[in-house]
Amino acid sequence: MMHQQYNFQFEVYSSTYDLNNTDNELLQKAIEATNHAYAPYSNFFVGAAARLKDGTIVTGANQENASFPVGICAERVLLSAVTSVYGTIAIDAIAISYNKKNGESDHPISPCGVCRQSLVEFESRVKKPIRLILGGMKGKVAILDSASFLLPLNFGSEEIL
Ligand code: THU
Repeated sequence: MMHQQYNFQFEVYSSTYDLNNTDNELLQKAIEATNHAYAPYSNFFVGAAARLKDGTIVTGANQENASFPVGICAERVLLSAVTSVYGTIAIDAIAISYNKKNGESDHPISPCGVCRQSLVEFESRVKKPIRLILGGMKGKVAILDSASFLLPLNFGSEEIL
């Protein structure tokens, strides 16, 4: 028997003002994208913005449905938009933010489990890690060098292809 350990480091900034201009711009795009969320059931408005390898910025927002499981998270709306419009292109970074109808948006949120699986498949598909910039409308911002850090021991295409 042997023990194995998994750990990773990430950066935490005390506010958006401490980010470099490129990261701050992407986070502002994610914040703006929360305005395009359709979230009448949860009142939790998520925005995501991707900076593609060529510098193009693409955004997405969560789209809910009266049949609740039909709703799609902002991250997967975004990944689908990227590949549908631009084909298989690497993403340098994705910023994710959120707003709440009744409540503060003052700390980072992390992608849900389903979105983690989609993000990791995207990384392996284009063979490039995606930096994640996670922040609310205000407060601390977390930056991870790869989405895969959030899904250790993940199930991937190498098992079935
Ligand atoms: N949501 C996202 O868009 N991204 C996440 O990573 C977490 C959750 C959405 C789904 C649903 O529309 C609302 O937030 C509340 O769960």
